[in-house]
Amino acid sequence: MKRLEERISQDGQVLSEHVLKVDRFLNHQIDPVLMQEIGKEFAARFANDGITKIVTIESSGIAPAVMAGLYLNVQVVFARKRKSLTLSEDLLTASVHSFTKNETNEISISKKYVHKDDRVLIIDDFLANGQAALGLIDIVKQSGAHVTGIGIVIEKSFQDGAAKLRQLGIRVESLARIAALTNGKVTFTHKQVEELV
Ligand code: G4P
Repeated sequence: MKRLEERISQDGQVLSEHVLKVDRFLNHQIDPVLMQEIGKEFAARFANDGITKIVTIESSGIAPAVMAGLYLNVQVVFARKRKSLTLSEDLLTASVHSFTKNETNEISISKKYVHKDDRVLIIDDFLANGQAALGLIDIVKQSGAHVTGIGIVIEKSFQDGAAKLRQLGIRVESLARIAALTNGKVTFTHKQVEELV
């Protein structure tokens, strides 16, 4: 998605060879117009897949997921990382370890909102090592629903999350794919997915 790549190049800050800061439009301050474009693009890519529900994870997955939900006309459920006071019974849970932050979170969603006949699109902001996505897949599978695909705003293709998911046979649609973060510069890749696996 050209507009997203331009925005990353313009406003992204390369913090290290592994971490890109995008607080100006995605992870802290959110650009609604860009999010709208992102939602439209996800909706277009999954338009013919009979999606009935979107599942994401708090917090930064919510904005792109809601916009995609708007265009696909489906409800959006976000997994919580902390137990909520009002979210107490009938939970589906999974353990998600973040290598970046070196912490493990128990993520959960209510059984009420994902059902066995759902065709689920999972959306998240970043794909790094794939742990959050794998946790969400686990939860969706526990509900008996079908994981139809995964939509990612920014994929770091030099980390192994995308390859792991694709090796599981899951369709991953990433709107921007980063090949490298070297010398303070973002390099994108447009290689066919098959060339990367
Ligand atoms: P993984 O799920 O793919 O294995 O990712 P990892 O554990 O490495 O990442 C943990 C958190 O860090 C996630 O956000 C993820 O989106 C974010 N993250 C990973 N790589 C980058 C990066 O290069 N830049 C930025 N800005 N974020 C990155 P989170 O903790 O769930 O945060 P939030 O959704 O509450 O904002």
